[in-house]
Amino acid sequence: MNTLVSASVLAADFSRLGEEVKRAEQAGVDMIHLDVMDGNFVSNLSFGAPVISSIRSITDLEFDTHLMVRTPHTLIEPIAQAGADIITIHIESESNIKDTLQMIKDLGKGAGLSIKPNTPIEDVYPYLDMLRLVLVMTVEPGYGGQAFITETVDKIASLNKYIKKNNLDTQIEVDGGINADTAKICRDSGAEILVAGTYLFAADDFARNVNALRGE
Ligand code: DX5
Ligand code: ZN
Repeated sequence: MNTLVSASVLAADFSRLGEEVKRAEQAGVDMIHLDVMDGNFVSNLSFGAPVISSIRSITDLEFDTHLMVRTPHTLIEPIAQAGADIITIHIESESNIKDTLQMIKDLGKGAGLSIKPNTPIEDVYPYLDMLRLVLVMTVEPGYGGQAFITETVDKIASLNKYIKKNNLDTQIEVDGGINADTAKICRDSGAEILVAGTYLFAADDFARNVNALRGE
């Protein structure tokens, strides 16, 4: 299985965001991960469509957006217009999940569904045939730089088993506390897309850490 690396700019230097995106691209990442937070679904606030649109012209890499917001259906259109390629919403949000995923697909974008550490993985199963990816949170959403929660590994493995058994092509993405060690655990459990913020943007050698996430 080919491992993809999605660089979370939450850990980047926001005063020169464009250059940071370029730095990630030059280091060989596969996607740019953009964390949209509303100060409500999570206590933190980050950025939204105007910031995403301001860096769209910097790279051709896919924009992997992760909406940590209470009512994502209200944001799908602006986030799509800003240049997102994948739009991931949380199953714990208050929007109608099926309708919101359909909205994402109707706009021609890849639909993702994310799940917090304490939500049972079976909750995402009814939506799998609509999804490009399931984002299994390996920390509580809201902040970068937290420690990987080991108990989430069983969820990745169960989901992987279910996807294989049902011949689906949904990819598993993981996010939070990902470094060379936890990346290996996630890859071995079936995760294909690895999100990393701190481990990449604070690295001495960005490209070396990208390779380390892939197990190279
Ligand atoms: C956390 C965000 C993550 C965050 C990961 O809520 O969804 O994408 O940037 O940061 P690290 O890799 O530092 O744990
Ligand atoms: Zn994220």
